Amino acid sequence: MTAFSETIAQAYAVDGAAVDLGRGVHEGALEADAVVRLPLATMNRHGLIAGATGTGKTRTLQLLAEQLSDAGVSVFRRRLQRRPLRARRPRRGRRAGAEAHGRARAAVRGDRVPRRVPRARGVTGVAAHLLLAAAGSTSSAFGPSEQKYLFEARQMQALSFAAHIPLVCFGIAFPAFVVFVEWLHLRTGDPLYRVLARRWSKVMLALFAVGVVTGTILSFELGLLWPNFMATFGDVFGLGFAIEGISFFVEAIFIGIYVYGWDRLSPRAHFLCGIPIVVAGFAGSLMVIAVNGWMNHPGGFELKDGRTIHVHPFAALFENGYFWHELVHMYLAGYIVAGFATASVYAWALLRGRDTRYNRTALVIPLAAAALASPVQVVVGDWVARDVAQAQPVKLAALEGLGTTERGAPEHLLGWYDGHEVRYGIRIPKLLSLLAFHDPNATVQGLDTVPVRDQPPVNVVRFAFQTMVGIGTFLALIGVFYAATWYRVKRLPRSVWFLRAVVAAGPLSLVALIAGWITTEVGRQPWIVYGVMRTSDAVTGAGGIPVGYATLALVYAGLAVAVVWLLRRLARAPFADPEAHVAG
Ligand code: HEM
Repeated sequence: MTAFSETIAQAYAVDGAAVDLGRGVHEGALEADAVVRLPLATMNRHGLIAGATGTGKTRTLQLLAEQLSDAGVSVFRRRLQRRPLRARRPRRGRRAGAEAHGRARAAVRGDRVPRRVPRARGVTGVAAHLLLAAAGSTSSAFGPSEQKYLFEARQMQALSFAAHIPLVCFGIAFPAFVVFVEWLHLRTGDPLYRVLARRWSKVMLALFAVGVVTGTILSFELGLLWPNFMATFGDVFGLGFAIEGISFFVEAIFIGIYVYGWDRLSPRAHFLCGIPIVVAGFAGSLMVIAVNGWMNHPGGFELKDGRTIHVHPFAALFENGYFWHELVHMYLAGYIVAGFATASVYAWALLRGRDTRYNRTALVIPLAAAALASPVQVVVGDWVARDVAQAQPVKLAALEGLGTTERGAPEHLLGWYDGHEVRYGIRIPKLLSLLAFHDPNATVQGLDTVPVRDQPPVNVVRFAFQTMVGIGTFLALIGVFYAATWYRVKRLPRSVWFLRAVVAAGPLSLVALIAGWITTEVGRQPWIVYGVMRTSDAVTGAGGIPVGYATLALVYAGLAVAVVWLLRRLARAPFADPEAHVAG
């Protein structure tokens, strides 16, 4: 590095979000290390860009405007003067500010901050006034924060999601299994179903209780770690969390009645008490999925001076282009995870020689649900990917490691993205175009269409996506094999390898679930609200993030030990009616 580069680099060394103005030129040569950046935090000042004709004033303005717009700042442009700057008396009745904002254009409206501000016209002459009136940014609710532990804050949030989401799957699907088994008892009078439903209801209660803990931590984290996000957009998505809270209370009340009402209510009344649990489990998670859909595909509001106006919470959450695919994909994931995780416990028991009617019944019911859901998930996954291709092309390019825009783009299995292309992967020509647009010659947008700072970490997203799809395909094969055997011979496949595959499917479905969320959330980076607010602008300025992270990790480790202990205890509890356990 030359002394010139070093001086420039030191002078412009800034932490946090900044606009990139370019590189220094010394004695006619471009110095790549002499990076000139201005912190976003200083963008609330007035400025002057001056220079002779042809020295790049317009280009500089354009760079500033584009990057500020990308960062979620409303950018207005207005040509003030053709002539050299001279003091000008404001006309009567017209305030100076009104002059600057007179025919403001390019405000943020509805869905998205415009990613490209039109070229500033007519900026000629000796001096060009700075045309930008940065009308406040999305981060203005609390002002931009200097958070050097942004990565740790994200990891902390991710840890909480990873702990909570498997429990959400059980909240979605497990009550339906329990109520279905109780319904079988009411229909057939077979005591085995009552024993099974009763034991599973205790598991449902235990997992619900743990979910309350992890869910509470999660909701506190949203406010504590991302205050700008909550303060700016709370009124857009708050409706979702409010309904989720109501669903939670309904669920809690009815789970209590259900678990403690087995011998106190009539069989019919008891069964009916199970239905609100199923509905509330569905409704609560639906709301959270709607919020996530909105974060990926924001709409239903306008931004003015960093504040939301004309907010339509219902449209934001439920008329969102991402709502349906996220809902269906996550619900199927719920049945796949709860189904295979439960089935794997009983498949293990069968492998260990405990081949009782109870274990076979407890295996068949969740396995049937997961086996039906997993082949459908592959089809739904294709729908999801096509929606992503339309609305988040950069995320799609990251999923596939597509460095440059290509017509008839190939797909690479495995391999490593080196910043330009995938290396060492298995290349399948035209497959990406075919999958994303159902046309082998379709043009797919590459990562190079946005600056590196607007790209997600490609290898993380790619690896997560390929893991999810790989496991999803394996689970779908198990499902098809199980369904085909059942259709032909009306019983479980006998093979030990099948039982082993079901045992493996339990933890693998959890891995697919977490990989799916990594795909969605990391794939959305660097945005917390796609195209509108950067994650770095949403984060808290508070200290102590690493301490909080370490504490949280300890809390979750303790919780995991408690859950395993509790579930083992429930599994080992003696049967009230041993006959029902072994008979048949
Ligand atoms: C087998 C084929 C599959 C395909 C093609 C597929 C495709 C996708 C895609 C493209 C996304 C990103 C969506 C976005 O960013 O908005 C996604 C997300 C996700 N996937 Fe999959 N997936 C598959 C299987 C699975 C399986 C088996 C599970 C779980 C058991 C799963 C769980 C998830 C979850 C939880 C998300 C995040 C929530 C969402 O965006 O809906 N996926 N999937």
